Amino acid sequence: MSTITFKFENPKLETITIETKAKGYSILELTEDHNIHLNHNCGGVCACSTCHIYIDKGDQYLEELSEKEEDFIDRARNPKLESRLACQCIILDENAVVEVMIPDQSQIIGHEH
Ligand code: FES
Repeated sequence: MSTITFKFENPKLETITIETKAKGYSILELTEDHNIHLNHNCGGVCACSTCHIYIDKGDQYLEELSEKEEDFIDRARNPKLESRLACQCIILDENAVVEVMIPDQSQIIGHEH
């Protein structure tokens, strides 16, 4: 079982912690499965930067950052060292413990899928 905690820049949203079988899934897929709003304009193929998140803890449990992902992170709003693209963060460990910060989605021009 993995434990994934989602925190939000938007102060109106409360932290959500989920315990689930997450190995092999991306963080973007987990947000969709648990009704957590995160834009993903390209549909999860590393071709935009709208699924930008911050990994506060547990990056060792995730697929490594690729060069392509890094290029798109550079175009995201307010990139930091902890920045990742949620669609590229595949969980590699059955017992992963990850903390994610979701940027304020009202600042991002997205569309729903
Ligand atoms: S959804 Fe476009 S890069 Fe993740």
